Amino acid sequence: MKILVTGGVGFIGSHTVVELFNAGFEPVIIDNLYNSSRDVLVGIKKITGQDFPFYEVDCNDISQVREIFEKEKFDGVIHFAAYKAVGESVDEPLKYYENNILSLLILLKVMKEFAVDKFVFSSSCTVYGQPDSIPVTELTPRQPATSPYGNTKAIAEDIIRDHVHAAPNLKAISLRYFNPIGAHETALIGELPNGVPSNLVPFITQTAAGLRKSLTVFGSDYDTPDGTCIRDFIHVVDLAKAHLKALILLQEQTTPNYYDVFNVGTGKGYTVLDLIKTFEEVNGVKLNYSIGPRREGDVEKIYAQSDKVNNVMKWTPEKTMSDALRDAWNWQKKLTNLQ
Ligand code: WQD
Repeated sequence: MKILVTGGVGFIGSHTVVELFNAGFEPVIIDNLYNSSRDVLVGIKKITGQDFPFYEVDCNDISQVREIFEKEKFDGVIHFAAYKAVGESVDEPLKYYENNILSLLILLKVMKEFAVDKFVFSSSCTVYGQPDSIPVTELTPRQPATSPYGNTKAIAEDIIRDHVHAAPNLKAISLRYFNPIGAHETALIGELPNGVPSNLVPFITQTAAGLRKSLTVFGSDYDTPDGTCIRDFIHVVDLAKAHLKALILLQEQTTPNYYDVFNVGTGKGYTVLDLIKTFEEVNGVKLNYSIGPRREGDVEKIYAQSDKVNNVMKWTPEKTMSDALRDAWNWQKKLTNLQ
């Protein structure tokens, strides 16, 4: 199957391209390189030995997207391309609504024109906000988004649901990611945050590499065992493999307008301090960190109830948080030429 991967040079996208190839799919990449670098394509080639078709195109450019669909004849689409910085989305909401929603509308429209009938969407556990109860299942009510970024994910899910209902020949799945961490075991691809990382693990690895003076833990007065927030940290390679399972499920679906959502998490919640201690133990490094004030908008605790993805999509995580933190550190050391 030939699969379009939008945002395929990004963190999760690049790992998914590798796993698609490993599973015998034919990935084709669209990426505007706004939040990624061509170096990632070099890493993908070193891992797979392949130069996958790559188009430096913005998904908001409908004429260029059409040309690619004309040329490549896709069997399915995995849509990662989106802006994803929570804080930035608060400062620039229109930029987020335009980019994240318009690119989705254009993709769905062009897919319909070319009768491409399988669509996997990159959603996020952020649609749950601060859930009333944890672990969250797919039936846990969504809460009002805590950021425009999160709202674009919730709106996108509703657009896909309504479009699939009306478009008899489209089958789609939204995958609600929890917290993707780690890197490829070869340390040839990994997370490449722009500027100062907002996410926990890249900030940790940059601190350990001496690029940042110290990590600030945002709050230790939460109602959790050690006072720090709880998250469901999932290895990015396990998350990438969930996309293959979603494509296979769509291929097997006989319901003409099938749409469903799946939590993709490990089903385990760890605190920020748990993760820091594991990072230090696994990698034999001492991390310089201090406790600071809470970060506005942070959810106190969330992790997945993952029965549905385990049972329906036949996906279970193979790697642990320790694996992810080892891989993340190896990737950082490669990036900063540390021995
Ligand atoms: C995790 C925990 C912080 C940095 C967001 C989005 C989600 C997805 C991933 C895009 C929190 C704490 C963090 C730091 C810290 N985004 N932390 N010091 O906020 O759970 O999820 O990013 O795909 O949709 O909502 O991830 O890594 O920013 O934070 O103490 O320097 O680490 O308070 O408790 P988050 P995160």
